[in-house]
This record gives sequence, C-alpha cells and structure tokens, in this order.
Amino acid sequence: MMFGHEKIEFLHLPTPLEKLANVSEDIGVNVYCKRDDLTNLATGGNKLRKLEYFLKDAIDQGSTMLITEGGAQTNHGRLTAAVAAKYGLKCAIVTEDEYPGEISANLLLDGMLGCPVYFVKDMKSGRQAVIDKYEAEGEKVYYIPMGGSNELGILGYAEAAMELNDQAKELGIDDATIFVTVGSLGTYLGMLAGLKKCNSKLKLRGINVLPYPGDGSDKENLLAYMHDYFDRICDFYGDDFVYTKEDFGSIDFDISTDYIHGAYNNAIEEVRDVMYYLARKEAIIIDPCYTGKTFEAVVAEARRGRIKPGENIIFMHTGGLPGIYTKHHRKEMEKELKSFMHTNEF
Ligand SMILES: Cc1ncc(COP(=O)(O)O)c(C=O)c1O
Repeated sequence: MMFGHEKIEFLHLPTPLEKLANVSEDIGVNVYCKRDDLTNLATGGNKLRKLEYFLKDAIDQGSTMLITEGGAQTNHGRLTAAVAAKYGLKCAIVTEDEYPGEISANLLLDGMLGCPVYFVKDMKSGRQAVIDKYEAEGEKVYYIPMGGSNELGILGYAEAAMELNDQAKELGIDDATIFVTVGSLGTYLGMLAGLKKCNSKLKLRGINVLPYPGDGSDKENLLAYMHDYFDRICDFYGDDFVYTKEDFGSIDFDISTDYIHGAYNNAIEEVRDVMYYLARKEAIIIDPCYTGKTFEAVVAEARRGRIKPGENIIFMHTGGLPGIYTKHHRKEMEKELKSFMHTNEF
C-alpha cells in the first residue's frame, strides 16, 4: 500500500544493493548499485515497479487489455507487454516512430511476448484509432501513458526509495547521494516522495536524458513540466500525499541537464565509453539511452571532483538492457568492438 493505493505483487523484492568495488577503487568514491535491472520479467527494468500498481488498477476496473505508447524502442512498452502476457491480458503498443527496418531489441521482445506494435503517423489520432479498434472487438482497454508516468506511476518508485533507504541504513551509507535517470519523470518524483515519506537522509540527484520541449533552457523546460506533474500528483492524492502544491517552490531539486547530449536516445561516444567501462570493471551492462547517460554523470562528476573522494553514491540501475541491440547503437558498437573479433589468425 502506497499513498492509499494497492498493487499486485509479482516482483521478487527487494532488489539487491551492491557495492561496485572495482569502480569505487578506480574513481575514489564509494559507488553502490541498486539493481532494479534485475526485476524479474522480460529482462527487467524500472517500469515493472510502476506496473504492479497499474495492473491492480486495470484489473479492478475489469480491463481486458493494456494499451500504451512510446518510442519504437520503448522499454515501458516491452514491460507492459510482459505483464499483460503473464496476467492473460491483451496488449498493444502505439508509436509515432518509423519502423526501423528490422525487428531488433525491444521490438523483438514485443513480438516474442505476443504484443502488436502500431506505427502511426500521428500519436493522438493513431492511439485513438487503435483503442477504438480493440473496443469494437469487445475489449475493455486500460490506457497507460508514455513511460507509465501519470499519477499512479509514481507509486512504484516511492516504494523503491523506502526499500533503498532501509538497505542503505543497513550498509551504513544512509547519507549517500542517489543518481537516478530522469525520462518521463515518474521514477524521480516517486523517489522524491518516498524519501520524504520515510524521512530519509539520502539525497537525490536526477540526470535528465532528453530535452523537454519549450522556450526556455533545458532545465527551465524540465522544471515547468515537473511543476505541472507535481501539481497533478498533489491534487490526485490529497491528504494521503507527503507534499502540497505550495511546497514546490521550496524543494531544492538537484537535476542535471548536462548529460542530455542534445537529443533522446542518440548514439554518443562518451556514453558508450562508460558502458564499456562498467562492463569491464563490474560485468554490469547499462544501456545507451538511459542508464549510460546517468552512469556517465557518476564517473564524470567523480573525476571532476564534484563528488568528493570517499563520498557514498548509489547508482540506480533502472534497466534498459535491450537498448544495446538497437540498430543505430549497435552500428557504432560494432565499429568500436571489431578489434575483439579475431578471425583467420590461427
Ligand atoms: C531503462 C530506463 N531507465 C530510466 C527511465 C526513466 O524513467 P522515467 O520515465 O520514470 O523518468 C526509463 C524510461 O523509459 C527507462 O526505460
């Protein structure tokens, strides 16, 4: 139960919190990793914690089908398809992206999970057409917005923050700073609320990985969107929530827009460098769209001295593994990793 709402439990929680000993030694700060990439359906990731709450709401409403939307390589879509498959619901994903010309990465998993993906020209009309089609066939559709970030979409990470707070206390690192990826914001705002709920001493640093539209700077545009989302959450939960709308101005949000690299899901050498670095130091795989940018922030800020030697950092690994198999990322990695392939030498 979180802020008055229940979930259907299908995850093996808590996920581990483990020290990255090799990385810590190398960069001189104590780096821990919260392994939410190890959540247990369809290669895992952060969206599953949100989906425990969506599933409960959908079933309570008598829904027979989940429909969601996002980029063609949406992790959230893949995990929605996974939950639907496990609970005997239909599912469809709607995307405005063009078909990439191959069925790889999340699209491959969507197909394996039996979930159709609709490539539409206009999201608003396309999404409605897909919903209408299934409702005409007799389905009761439960719509989940992009990234699962609506009012209910904060609950999973409010709970995750409380779980993490307990684990950090046990390890004696309850003063740590958490580095978490900011995409559609549900994860970040959920954690912010969860940390407040348990009076945690953990600090929260968000790393934004996509430019929000608007006329201001990346930071101003993000904050404007966040303000709107924050208000909606406060209205929705009312007295069950830990903040009121008036609190927004006094919260000291620590969110960086320095690691966006200009666009969402672009192929960036510095990001791939830290992906290789973490793989080679700890055998942990991060992705080029989300967690790679966040881990780049951890390493860069430690090396630049923004994180002080000996400080405790918790890197939230929010998943995204299939992203490494996406065509445009794979093409770059194939060039860089070709030297590891030894043919015709012996
Ligand atoms: C792997 C991964 N990490 C982080 C995020 C960001 O979460 P949120 O959209 O709740 O900000 C996403 C969102 O799609 C994701 O797929």
